Amino acid sequence: MKAESVIITGASDGIGKAMALEFSRKGWAIGLLARRTELLEKVREECLQAGAPRVFYRGADVSDENAFEKALDGLDLELDGATAFIANAGITGRSSLGPDAWTSAKRILEVNVLSAIHGLEHMKLKMLARGRGTLAGVSSIAGARGMPTSGAYATSKAALTNHLEGLRVDLKPHGISVVTIVPGFIRTSLTTHNKGKMPFLMEVDDAARVFVSGVVGKRAWSIAPAPFRIIYPLIQMLPRSWFDALMSRMYRTIRG
Ligand SMILES: NC(=O)c1ccc[n+]([C@@H]2O[C@H](COP(=O)([O-])OP(=O)(O)OC[C@H]3O[C@@H](n4cnc5c(N)ncnc54)[C@H](OP(=O)(O)O)[C@@H]3O)[C@@H](O)[C@H]2O)c1
Repeated sequence: MKAESVIITGASDGIGKAMALEFSRKGWAIGLLARRTELLEKVREECLQAGAPRVFYRGADVSDENAFEKALDGLDLELDGATAFIANAGITGRSSLGPDAWTSAKRILEVNVLSAIHGLEHMKLKMLARGRGTLAGVSSIAGARGMPTSGAYATSKAALTNHLEGLRVDLKPHGISVVTIVPGFIRTSLTTHNKGKMPFLMEVDDAARVFVSGVVGKRAWSIAPAPFRIIYPLIQMLPRSWFDALMSRMYRTIRG
């Protein structure tokens, strides 16, 4: 029988790489996508050692529409039709009060929203034609509300969460599952710029185990670390004045 297979964007490092290794341990075939091909070559070797039967990679910037589609098409072909796709590639950035405010916000929205949705929509068509598959997107707890110091990032993740939610309902009758992956604070290069204390900071391999089990189990919502299962809806319910006071204090602590 053909092995299950997954294409992961942003697989050269962090959560994407850790998920690729976890899928490999489960015997899935893997398609890796990111810009740094020298890292992808190393991840490929690690995935093969971890148990993946076949591993392919493509170097592409997800915001380069043609290159991204070509890379997805190539990986999908090599995998004989990927069982799952995870839009994971993402960047962060602090809200700026300077002249770079717009360029920085635009780049975050470009990579985290437009490119993620582009990947999901492109793979959706292939899965619709096959009548099966799982689409997943890596959002964030930051998408729960507008977050101080990270306006564009929080906006990007709220947009992705909402897009995935709509897709989930639309695609259910077509046999396609949609999984929203919601990391809290995970130790990767993305969080190294936080000099303060990050609540419930989780190691990336532990987080990947939770997220991969969410994708394999086709769960609508996969959130880690566990305390955020309760904290996320509580943040959404906080009255505005409490939210402002709590979040400005929390983000001062996180940023250090
Ligand atoms: N770490 C956390 O605490 C946390 C919390 C909430 C959500 N998340 C989300 O989790 C996802 C992964 O984050 P991470 O923490 O693993 O970050 P990371 O360690 O910085 O890894 C980011 C990955 O995305 C890729 N990437 C970035 N821009 C890209 C582009 N334009 N084209 C192609 N690939 C690109 C990078 O590869 P190349 O540089 O090689 O292209 C890298 O593989 C992101 O969507 C992030 O927003 C993370």
